[in-house]
Parts: sequence; structure tokens; C-alpha cells
Amino acid sequence: MTILQENITSSSTIINGDCLDALKNIPANSIDLIITDPPYNLGRFMKGRGTNIKKMRENHFAYSGWDDLEFEKWCSQMNTLLSECHRVLKKKGNLLIFMSIIKAETIINIAQNHKFYYKTVGIWHKTNPMPRNMNLQFVNSTEAWLHFVNDATTGIFNNRGKVIHDFVESSTINNSERKFGKHPTQKPLQVMCHFIDLLSNEKDNVLDPFMGSGSTGVACELLKRKFVGVELSNEYYEIAKNRIIAKK
Ligand SMILES: C[S@@+](CC[C@H](N)C(=O)[O-])C[C@H]1O[C@@H](n2cnc3c(N)ncnc32)[C@H](O)[C@@H]1O
Repeated sequence: MTILQENITSSSTIINGDCLDALKNIPANSIDLIITDPPYNLGRFMKGRGTNIKKMRENHFAYSGWDDLEFEKWCSQMNTLLSECHRVLKKKGNLLIFMSIIKAETIINIAQNHKFYYKTVGIWHKTNPMPRNMNLQFVNSTEAWLHFVNDATTGIFNNRGKVIHDFVESSTINNSERKFGKHPTQKPLQVMCHFIDLLSNEKDNVLDPFMGSGSTGVACELLKRKFVGVELSNEYYEIAKNRIIAKK
């Protein structure tokens, strides 16, 4: 598959292609932090539930086409991904992966097979979720995130003497973060900055193999980290490029 790579600012390089191919070109022990938000393997599950999500929101991720793998194939993709993450990340480097709560244990097991030390499973709580089926069930307002350290028990943790709880709370993205186009699962800059600030230092190399609309890259520009991001879709790649250049 063709891979396009561009240096779009003095500190950000982005790649349009499959991350499993692109990661092979990244040197071993060269990355300080990997922070990423891969497909959660929920597309098939959501479509099978017979809810009216398509009517409610045309760009719902379940209809995006990038989260359709069968469970076994998704596990195999995550296995290859985490093997490459172990190779490119420096020893003691942090790995932060967003994930669906019901798949957290699967990812922990795979990561542990690649010498990642499991630290924490935490929650991102959205204060203004879509109130889908609010009269029938609890409204979904949470996603998980998993924190690991590569081949060591501790890495950078810039808490600056403060107690940092294992949840992060924010609203979903605001309109200025949608200025260059929409992504169905775009993460707020506030959340990305929280983790990047805690888990890396200025000038560190940060990698996001599933960058989507480039939220990790924008946060890296704002926090003076070097960024490498990969995205399969050309449409999202262009959104990411514009956002990172504009730092928005
Ligand atoms: C959950 S979204 C990430 C959203 C991102 N955190 C943001 O704030 O916009 C996952 C992204 O991974 C991309 N993707 C799926 N498979 C991929 C692959 N093999 N290589 C690179 N990107 C991939 C999808 O196109 C999608 O944009």
C-alpha cells in the first residue's frame, strides 16, 4: 500500500497509510510516548443491537467502515500493533491507549505479552454525552484508557506534587475543534493535553498510530512535543494536517 509522509511543521510529521506498515519504518527505541485511540472493535456489536443510531447520527462510528473487523482479526491487528509499539518505544516509555470498557482486559493481556507493564485502567467521563435512549437505559458517557510502561515499572509521570485521579472529565469537542471537518470519535484537546503533559516532556517524540483528525498532533504542537502521526483515511488525514498546522 502507498504511504505518503509529510513534514507539515518543524516538529510534526504525518503519514497517510496503514499504521502496521508505517510503523515498520520507525526506528527502534526512538519514541518517548505513544498515545493512541484505535478502533474499539464495537462497530459490529453496535450494528447488531438494532438501535436507531443510523437515523440519529449519520456519521456514527459504527457506520464509518473503519471499525468492522471480526474480534479475532482485531485481536491480531492489536497484537501486531503492540509488538511494534514495544519495538519503537524507548525502555520506560509510556503507552496510553483509549479503549472501550468491554475490551480493556483483552488489550491488557495482549500488551503484557509484549513486555508492557500494566499500570492503570482509567475513565474518560463526558459531561454532555448524546442522550441516546435516555428513557430506556443508562446513557453511555464513558470510555476507558489504559496506561502501560514499556519494559519497566515506572516512566515519566509529571504530577508536580498533585494527586492525579484515574479519571478525566470533560465535555465532548467544541465547535472550534471541528473547524476543519468532522470525525465521529474526535477526542477533545483538553483530554489529550492532560495525558501528554503528564506522560512526556518538552521536545520528546510522541507517536499516534491512529491519529484520526489529529488531536494528538495539535496537543503536541501546543505543548512543544515532536509528533509522528499515522492515519489510513485520506479525508481524516487532510483534517489532521489542517488542524496541526493551525494548532486548533
Ligand atoms: C478512534 S479513531 C481516532 C480518533 C482520534 N483520536 C481523533 O481525535 O480524531 C481511529 C482512527 O484510526 C483510523 N484507522 C483505522 N485503521 C487504521 C490503520 N490500520 N492504520 C492507520 N489508521 C487507521 C481510522 O480511520 C480512524 O480515523
